Amino acid sequence: MGVRFKGWGTGVPERVVTNDELSQTLDTSDEWIRERTGIRERRIGGSAKSLGVEAAGKAIADAGVSLDSIDFLVLATTTPDRLTPATAPMIAAELGLSCPAMDVNAACSGFMYALRTAQGLLETGNRRILVIGSENLSRWVDWNDRNMAVLLADGAGACILDYDAEGSDILSFVLGTDGTAADLLTCEHGGFFEMDGKEVFRRAVRVVVDSAEEALERAGVTAQDISLVVPHQANVRIIQAAAQRLGIEMERCVVVLDRYGNTSSSSIPLALVDARDHGRIRPDEYALLTGFGAGMTWASAVVRWS
Ligand code: UT7
Repeated sequence: MGVRFKGWGTGVPERVVTNDELSQTLDTSDEWIRERTGIRERRIGGSAKSLGVEAAGKAIADAGVSLDSIDFLVLATTTPDRLTPATAPMIAAELGLSCPAMDVNAACSGFMYALRTAQGLLETGNRRILVIGSENLSRWVDWNDRNMAVLLADGAGACILDYDAEGSDILSFVLGTDGTAADLLTCEHGGFFEMDGKEVFRRAVRVVVDSAEEALERAGVTAQDISLVVPHQANVRIIQAAAQRLGIEMERCVVVLDRYGNTSSSSIPLALVDARDHGRIRPDEYALLTGFGAGMTWASAVVRWS
């Protein structure tokens, strides 16, 4: 018994904000942002709902499935449009769905947590799930704070996950949290994102490597078997450090943060769709999906592309 990925879609705002544009109002530079993070530009605009609807609509079309075949909608978001109601029912209504719909908040590991939730829902009787990661991080950024303003951005990614009695595209899953590190990256009610960047960086590399190694072991594969690493897109230096420790060359890692910045729950599907569209993953190849974020939370999974 298992699950199959059926279709993918993304939604990003049209408005491109370059590093040079940020440098006009902040004490920063294109050179610093590129060298310290790898980011060149990001997309800003929309809402968790509007971007989520766009990504979901494309995923449904890509999968070629009917709306009434979708049993559940799981939305990963750190930035719901309102505290309540959740954003998932609003996305469902916009799409014309009346199935159960709920938000999951696991910060930048959100899409992975949503996938894991969907996997569990499929194992308990549901047959088709719409999984979305959608973020409107720019709304919670203090645009006078160069620490966060250069990093965070908006965007969404989505997929359709189906039940399959014969086999599974997801071979292993490792998730974890460390709530003692909760204060390292926060956004208070009515406030803005704040982060101890250096400490998040240090811990991020560690949890990505540890969870990835465990996911590889549980899937019965090695780092050499992995064709594509799809990491959370926070900082290219984090990806480089983790890849090096895992013994995986950067050529096998997807990097889209140069164009999209850090889009939290959306970054893994945005990266995966980009890799797929560029023919970087073929049927039966293995991919390692790995994320980390506020909480702290982390999650790694080994997937066989079908
Ligand atoms: O999505 C999950 C959560 N996010 C992350 O995973 C992010 C993790 N952290 C990071 O990516 C990095 O720690 C940052 C990009 C946030 C910062 O990079 P860093 O290499 O750790 O820089 P730093 O904080 O050590 O700062 C180095 C210097 C400092 O100046 P001095 O003290 O050396 O004179 C900072 O004041 O760079 C300065 N600085 C900046 N300069 C220009 C810090 N931010 C900026 C900026 N523009 N935006």
